[in-house]
Amino acid sequence: EKGGWSSFMAKEISEEPEAVANTILGRVVDGQVVLPELAELDEVLRDIDRVIVIACGTASYSGLLGKYALEKWARIPVEVELSHEFRYREPVLTPRTLVVSISQSGETMDTLMAVKYAIANGARTLSICNTQGATIARESDAVVYTHAGPEVAVASTKAFVAQITALYLFGLHLGRVRGTLDAATGAHQLAELQSIPAKIARVLKNAPEITQLAKWMSDSRAVLFLGRHVGYPIALEGALKLKELAYIHAEGFAAGELKHGPIALIEPGQPVFVVVPSPRDPNSLHAKVVSNIQEIRARGARVLAIAEEGDVAVLPFADEVIRIPLAAPLFEPLLTVVPLQLFAMELATAKGLDVDQPRNLAKSVTVE
Ligand code: M6R
Repeated sequence: EKGGWSSFMAKEISEEPEAVANTILGRVVDGQVVLPELAELDEVLRDIDRVIVIACGTASYSGLLGKYALEKWARIPVEVELSHEFRYREPVLTPRTLVVSISQSGETMDTLMAVKYAIANGARTLSICNTQGATIARESDAVVYTHAGPEVAVASTKAFVAQITALYLFGLHLGRVRGTLDAATGAHQLAELQSIPAKIARVLKNAPEITQLAKWMSDSRAVLFLGRHVGYPIALEGALKLKELAYIHAEGFAAGELKHGPIALIEPGQPVFVVVPSPRDPNSLHAKVVSNIQEIRARGARVLAIAEEGDVAVLPFADEVIRIPLAAPLFEPLLTVVPLQLFAMELATAKGLDVDQPRNLAKSVTVE
C-alpha cells in the first residue's frame, strides 16, 4: 500500500535510503564485503578475462555505472550492452567471460533470452536481481540480490540505487578475489558506500524546491541532460524518467560530446540539466563541465545544475542549483539521480498524469 504517499513512485523514492542500506546489510564483515552467494563462483572470478553487463532501460544505466567501479577496482575490461542488442550480434563469449545481467523484476524477456544465449555459448553468468526466485536469477550461475523491497511503480527508482549498490559490492568483492584492490582501499570505499543512505535522506529534504521547479517547467517541450564520467549515465537516466513519466522529449548527452553535435540544439530558453562533478574530482572534470555550462549559457540555455554543496564555481552560470552532499566521485550518482527522479515525478504530477502507470508501459516487459 501507498502508506500515505500520493503515489507508489513517491513512496518508493522515499525508501531509497533503506534500499541502499538493506542491500549492504549483512554483507560487511570487518570492513570488507562478504558475499557468500558467490562462494562457488570465486574460482571462476579469479580466472575471467572480461565482463559483459546486459540489461534494459534503467537497469542498463546502473550497468554503465558498474563499469566505472569494476574497471577501477578489479582492473578487468567491462562492456555494457542492451540485452536485445547483445543476443543478435554473435558476441564473442568464452568460459572466461562473465555475463552479468541486471533486472529488477528478473523476468524481462530480452534479458532472460540474453542470459540463456550466454549460457548456451559457454559464458558464466551472474545476475543482479530484486525479486527472489525470479526466472533470470534461477537461470544464472549465481545471484546477488538487491534488497530494495517490492517496486510497484512502472518507473524504476529505488531498484536503480539498489542495483548500483549491489554492483559496487560485487566490484569490491571482485577486486579482492583478483588481488587488484588492497584491503585498506576496499574498506575505505565500503565506508563511502555505507555513508550514502544518510546522504540520500538529505537530498530528499530538497523535494519541495524540486516540486516548485517542476511546476515552473511543466510546459517544457524538450529538456536536455548533460553529464560526464559517472554523471553521464545519470543524464541518460534523468532523460528516460522524464520521457516515460511526463511524455516530454528528453535526451541525455555526455558533456564532452556537446561540440560534436548536440550544442546545435541549444536555443534561447532551452532547459538543460547539468550533472556537475565534484570540484574535488581527481580528473579535474569539474572545470571541463563548468566550461560546457558557460558554452551553453552563452547560447541562451536555461541551466539547472546539480552540484555539490559548497561548489561556488557554478553559481555565476546556473539559473538554478540543486545541491547534493559531498561524496567520493564513484558514489555521486547515488545522490545526483534523486533530484532527477523527483523532477520527472513532479513534472508529470503537475501535468495531471498518472505517475505510477504511464501510458503504453508495463512494469515488467515479458515479451520481446
Ligand atoms: O525489470 P527490469 O529491471 O529488467 O526492467 C528493465 C526496464 O524495463 C526498466 O528499467 C524500465 O526501463 C523502467 N520502466 C524505467 O523506469
